[in-house]
Amino acid sequence: MNGRVASLLREIEAFGKANDARVADRSQKMLNITPDTGEFLSILARLQPAKRVLEIGTSNGYSTLWLADALSGTDGIVETVERNPEKVRLAQVNFERSGLSRCISLVEADGAQVLAAASDSVYDFVFLDSERTEYVSWWPHILRVVRPGGLVVCDNAISHKHEFEQFTEVVRRTPSCSVCLVPVGKGQLLILKHRELA
Ligand SMILES: C[S@@+](CC[C@H](N)C(=O)[O-])C[C@H]1O[C@@H](n2cnc3c(N)ncnc32)[C@H](O)[C@@H]1O
Repeated sequence: MNGRVASLLREIEAFGKANDARVADRSQKMLNITPDTGEFLSILARLQPAKRVLEIGTSNGYSTLWLADALSGTDGIVETVERNPEKVRLAQVNFERSGLSRCISLVEADGAQVLAAASDSVYDFVFLDSERTEYVSWWPHILRVVRPGGLVVCDNAISHKHEFEQFTEVVRRTPSCSVCLVPVGKGQLLILKHRELA
């Protein structure tokens, strides 16, 4: 990671912490992933290596920048989806400052619509960090848009464990997937779609 991106990530992290401590309205909180979660996503994306990533829940772009930096050496792209226009504006500024805009496609929309419109097996990696109660209804599309051998990672699987119970059950019942909970940051639910489908 170059110094410009590293320093911007530290700045966004500090901004998010200060902002979230100050504001009461949840829609105005940044709710960024932890730095070790960023490192974890980066390792997974580099290991794959991922070329096309879908993120739902951009906020001001902190997690997007970790992913975009991981893809920057291989001409990969992160398509990141955010429905809050104010957060889209904040993310846009951060992406321009990062020098990684070529690796990012920022979409102002609802994640459900983007998933429904996406083609089959186009993503190597999907990162979900949005409205957790929607994940069960999104699962058929998520499974469809991730390629065999692709990964799905969901943040907050330990911090909001009860909200993941039904989703985890549905994923565990899916024959073509492996799933495990990784205690990094707020808890990452890691799902692998098998190369050979059952
Ligand atoms: C936890 S924050 C994302 C934090 C970001 N991933 C990061 O680490 O910097 C969740 C974001 O998801 C957005 N969101 C929630 N539900 C959404 C949906 N259905 N479609 C698009 N964005 C959504 C919210 O507006 C909020 O900005």
